[in-house]
Amino acid sequence: MLKDKNIIVGVTGGIAAYKAVDVVSQLKKKGAEAFVIMTEGAQEFVTPLTFQTISQNPVSTKIFSQPTTWEVEHISLADRADAIIIVPATANIIGKIAGGIADDMLTTVVLASKAPIIFAPSMNVNMFENSLTQRNIETLKKLGHHIIEPEEGFLACGYTGKGRLPQTDIIIDEIEYVLNKKDLYKKKVLVTAGPTREDIDPVRYITNHSSGKMGYAIAKAARDRGGDVVLISGVTHIRPPSGVKFVRVGSALEMKEAVLKEFDDADVVIKAAAVADYRPENISGQKIKKSDEDFILKLTKNPDILLELGKQKGKRILVGFAAETQDIIDNAQEKLKNKNLDMIVANDLTLEGSGFDTDTNIVTIISSDGKIEKFNKMGKKELAHIILDKISGLLQQS
Ligand code: CTP
Repeated sequence: MLKDKNIIVGVTGGIAAYKAVDVVSQLKKKGAEAFVIMTEGAQEFVTPLTFQTISQNPVSTKIFSQPTTWEVEHISLADRADAIIIVPATANIIGKIAGGIADDMLTTVVLASKAPIIFAPSMNVNMFENSLTQRNIETLKKLGHHIIEPEEGFLACGYTGKGRLPQTDIIIDEIEYVLNKKDLYKKKVLVTAGPTREDIDPVRYITNHSSGKMGYAIAKAARDRGGDVVLISGVTHIRPPSGVKFVRVGSALEMKEAVLKEFDDADVVIKAAAVADYRPENISGQKIKKSDEDFILKLTKNPDILLELGKQKGKRILVGFAAETQDIIDNAQEKLKNKNLDMIVANDLTLEGSGFDTDTNIVTIISSDGKIEKFNKMGKKELAHIILDKISGLLQQS
């Protein structure tokens, strides 16, 4: 989504200025063009040459420098921008922009641009908490600008508190969010992800290899597209995306309860979770001790959550996943029909780069109108957007 986008990166004079180098580097890696504008203060921390080398574009530092072309530089930069990110944003730049001041290249471009503007504040905790800074941040928010909350921690000035620049991936996330189309605006999107855990006793459980990556990628992409996202997840090692309602569950029964609680007003339900079909009939309250005999564990059937949702589908869009190792299309088609789905995303678990705990997937998407589409190996994020494109199309038809 960042591919071929023009991003202006405004760097101001804070110690975190060096971290903006990584932001520019990540933007380039994702196929964006980065145009860096540095304030005078920023140049005390990092040289323009560093940013020029990383961005492979000239770096703007002065408003009245000799023009290299006949374009008015600050206007052409302002017009070209798909988004502006100010990283780090000092209290000074926040104050100046909130007050409409344009006295250097960066503030002038900001004033001349219609592109969305993102601020990543980073400063001493007392400066951040100062009511003047807070008032200025509120002003920027009211004007529709985006603020990335600084993190708490040890600050370069020796204080501990709120004021640290968040990690690059959080900053890139926010840029992607701002640039995305908002076709799921005001739609409630319920996503399930990850494995379920079925307890045997206080120390043992049955689970599966699901990492949750696919479901989390869908939740994040749906959030980026403006959806009100609820992510119901089994235990995973992934950080839940910010801005989504996150519900952690353990067993299939817990997942069912959580899903039904959110189902009524949902517009879209995407069941990417790998739900255990069976659970131990009895959960031992005490640790089961070993004996000389073999141990037989009796399993009882879990409810099929998606099957139950299919029965009360109404106007909701219902999307399932099918994890298969054989007869992929036939099995997936049967699940699509039995569970009353609009669409099913079938994975062939035998292929390398598909299914559990990979960053990629190889899928076939089958729709209720009979359409079967095979896709080559792709990143889970890209696949998430393909699934959401289809859902968005269905929502427009309904
Ligand atoms: N699913 C569910 N509840 C279950 C089992 C599965 O909601 N108890 C959902 C999954 O989240 C997925 C779809 O049903 O979206 C298909 O899951 P899958 O495990 O591929 O198939 P099953 O229906 O369990 O059939 P089988 O295990 O026999 O392949």
